[in-house]
Amino acid sequence: MPDYAFFQKQFVPLSEAKVGIMTHALHYGTACFDGIRGNWNPEQKQTYLFRPKDHYERLHQSCRILKINLPYSVDELCRLTVELVEKNGYQEDVYIRPLAYKSSQAVGVRLHNLEDDFFVFVIPFGPYLDIDKGARCCVSSWRRVDDSMIPPRAKITGLYVNSALAKTEAWENGFDEAIMLTQEGHVSEGSGENVFLVLQGKLVTPPSSDNILMGITRDTIIKLAKNELGLDTLERSIDRSELYIAEECFLTGTAAHVTPVIEIDHRKVGTGEIGEITQKLQQLFFDVIKGKNPKYLDWCTPVYHQKLAMV
Ligand SMILES: Cc1ncc(COP(=O)(O)O)c(C=O)c1O
Repeated sequence: MPDYAFFQKQFVPLSEAKVGIMTHALHYGTACFDGIRGNWNPEQKQTYLFRPKDHYERLHQSCRILKINLPYSVDELCRLTVELVEKNGYQEDVYIRPLAYKSSQAVGVRLHNLEDDFFVFVIPFGPYLDIDKGARCCVSSWRRVDDSMIPPRAKITGLYVNSALAKTEAWENGFDEAIMLTQEGHVSEGSGENVFLVLQGKLVTPPSSDNILMGITRDTIIKLAKNELGLDTLERSIDRSELYIAEECFLTGTAAHVTPVIEIDHRKVGTGEIGEITQKLQQLFFDVIKGKNPKYLDWCTPVYHQKLAMV
């Protein structure tokens, strides 16, 4: 268990970071969160936070949508996150979970006239899906929530019931992950990942208008594909049947990294092996997030300022 969390404006032992049972967010899903990875580089004895600024800019946007007052700037959030991770001192990959929430002890569905609060904690975190073997996916019977219902561009806790329904249905049916369609039947995203296809040698991914979270990994992959492989990504609506004819498919996310998809609805993707473009992007991505590619060090924030003792 981690030692410290940032809770109610200070660093406290995790065991003291507790909310009451009447907390508004617990009842009505009125909270926003984000997820940031800290990637351990054993050669450098350093942990790099990956694109923390972008994650906190997105958290600010989510809070604006949910009328949550987040009293810290993006820079302040980055600074206190570095301090928190440094205090906990892990020498392995970690996942950081900031969450801003309606903290009033109050009954009544609304967003107004409520107090807000914020916390962040960090936990050790390995792979989320099997990135080496690849994932077997299904198209979910649950449709992605529409922007006119709960905006998926915001990471609102209540929205994740939609993802949880899809994920557990997939898991109970023997799949690793679910791919949800929009109300119109276009491919939207996984329960916690964006989707990419390789179709006739071209990278294709759903646009923001198909109710996706605008993933930071998605953006990273679009940029790496362009800069390093000379591949443009087409952001356009994707039909369900295109999932069945793609040469390659992969999922992207802070938790999922770049996870190859080897099967969808009991149909092999391409040959059923991990595709060449997926493999190249995976390799590039892992080097970048661990601070091993000098070209992309701007995306990596080092945590440890003092030399770590050897373990
Ligand atoms: C629903 C959903 N889509 C996509 C993503 C991927 O976003 P990112 O790459 O910013 O982690 C996530 C994870 O945060 C998610 O929860």
